[in-house]
Amino acid sequence: MAYISNEIINEIRNRTDIVEVVSKYVNLTKKGKNYIGVCPFHDDHSPSMSVSPEKQIFTCFSCGATGNVFTFVADFEKISFIQAVQLLGEKAGINISNSDKLVDNKKDDYFEIYELANKFYQNSLFTSLGKNAVEYLENRKISKDTIKKFGIGLSIQKVSLTDYLVNKKYSIQKLNDIGLTNDNGKDVFINRIMFPIYDLSGNPVAFSGRIYNTKDTSKYVNTKETDKFKKGKILYNYHIAKEHLKKNDTVIIMEGQMDVIRASTVGINNCIATMGTALTRDHRNVLKNMADNIILCFDGDTAGEKATLSAIELLLDTGVNIRIVRLPDNMDPDEYILKEGKDAFLRQIDLAVSVIEYKMEILKKDKNLGDARDISNYINSAIKEIANEKDDIVVELNLKKIATNFNVEYETIRKKYDDFKTKNRVIKKEEIKVKKTYDRYRKAENNLIYYMLKSSTVLNMVEKRVGYFPTKNIRDLSNEIIYYFHKYGIINVADFISYISFSDELLGTLKDILAMNIKEDFQVEEIEDYIFVISEYYKKKKIDELTKMMKEEKDPLKQAKILGEIMEIRGVRKDDTRN
Ligand code: CTP
Ligand code: MN
Repeated sequence: MAYISNEIINEIRNRTDIVEVVSKYVNLTKKGKNYIGVCPFHDDHSPSMSVSPEKQIFTCFSCGATGNVFTFVADFEKISFIQAVQLLGEKAGINISNSDKLVDNKKDDYFEIYELANKFYQNSLFTSLGKNAVEYLENRKISKDTIKKFGIGLSIQKVSLTDYLVNKKYSIQKLNDIGLTNDNGKDVFINRIMFPIYDLSGNPVAFSGRIYNTKDTSKYVNTKETDKFKKGKILYNYHIAKEHLKKNDTVIIMEGQMDVIRASTVGINNCIATMGTALTRDHRNVLKNMADNIILCFDGDTAGEKATLSAIELLLDTGVNIRIVRLPDNMDPDEYILKEGKDAFLRQIDLAVSVIEYKMEILKKDKNLGDARDISNYINSAIKEIANEKDDIVVELNLKKIATNFNVEYETIRKKYDDFKTKNRVIKKEEIKVKKTYDRYRKAENNLIYYMLKSSTVLNMVEKRVGYFPTKNIRDLSNEIIYYFHKYGIINVADFISYISFSDELLGTLKDILAMNIKEDFQVEEIEDYIFVISEYYKKKKIDELTKMMKEEKDPLKQAKILGEIMEIRGVRKDDTRN
């Protein structure tokens, strides 16, 4: 594993702003000194994560997640601490690979190669060999501006990307690893229109190539899955759409890149695409932090309907407001916009229906709504759907709608609904608060650690007077804090988190303490109290031991002697009672 010195880690952290980085993943709103947002580390519904620009740490007061910018990225991207350091290091312009402190860390040139490949393909499109492809795009009403905007290019059999990159001194092995060259050393993409795909941070990580004038069994060929390209984690156009969400807090999800590209040609830029795959739980985590409103706008065919229903299932409990557009005549957004135009599409978006409305429509399928029994079945299943709704007004309006539509008394429908609710009442689990309970000794330990990180006075008091904490992790943590302070002359929590990250256990204990919402300022008397409590712990422990001994002792003389010792600890001896 790579080793990066603390100095370099701190330098990268200094050049990186936690608010800026976190807001790439989570919408943040300024509140007082801090920023708050929905916590991505638990099923958060209301913003309970706070990011402090001053301390450069984040803390979730609901689930207890906390840390610095590196641990945030590491936990979010599910990468190691060191990988997070490297990732942010690259962005901060600190070339870790040139550092003599670094052992065994070859700089990853993945993005660089993709950048070059993308330029190569874009150039090819506008050569004489690209005439047919340009014509194809023109026929599909894709302008030169749009081609540029989305970096669309062309792979040509006669012009080898592999040769070009090998000439640039990249190894065939590497090109094969990252999905540009096949096992025979030849280009993966041949004679296809090339759409670059970017990761969530906007780095090029893959291509999707479409046939245009040949017959092939697969319309699209995508880069194989690599360490940086996982289809289930990536959303086409995410990094661009994210920028546009600042104005309009709604993201539109489509199936294909052509849909997203078409929408942009009529000025709708808040669209992303799943690229034909079903939404995954990773997508869900990204989406719930992306916007407050999601519009599902999948293809109008039955596959699109299935995709819509499963996306609803997946997103329903994220707290995001979901609405649904179903396009007519099996059209996808690309076809619809081309055929009906921008205004018609905007109307579709405006008329997007709620989940309940959508489900109630779906339930009507295959039912003969002239038949009383079918109507009754329909109403029963509609009520089940409505029962998922939390908003009482929405519930009432929908029950009323059923009553009117089917000419049934509202009271009858309401009673059915109430009966269903009573039968299915589930005791709602309170949001699991991972707040641990501590005894008073552990509380004193936690508080001391917390204030040691804030004040060298406390640190000195602890060093001189406590020295030895009852809990092993606290003891180790305290030793590390003292060591760190003597080495650097200062304690910065955000940097100390990096420093401690070599040990999951110590980092875990530290995170628990940081998440405890301990008040910022303190009085020296309080510190005295905590130190007193710790010394009490040892007294109590010693007394417990002696009491046990005394009870087991048969000899009254010896018993008396032990009792004397106990009395002494209780009364006379004030300070250090450990041994
Ligand atoms: N897709 C894929 N491989 C395929 C077919 C589709 O990866 N063989 C992905 C592509 O990302 C595509 C998306 O699934 O954009 C949706 O597929 P589809 O609806 O078939 O394509 P369209 O978006 O309609 O593309 P086009 O209009 O170019 O035919
Ligand atoms: Mn299409």
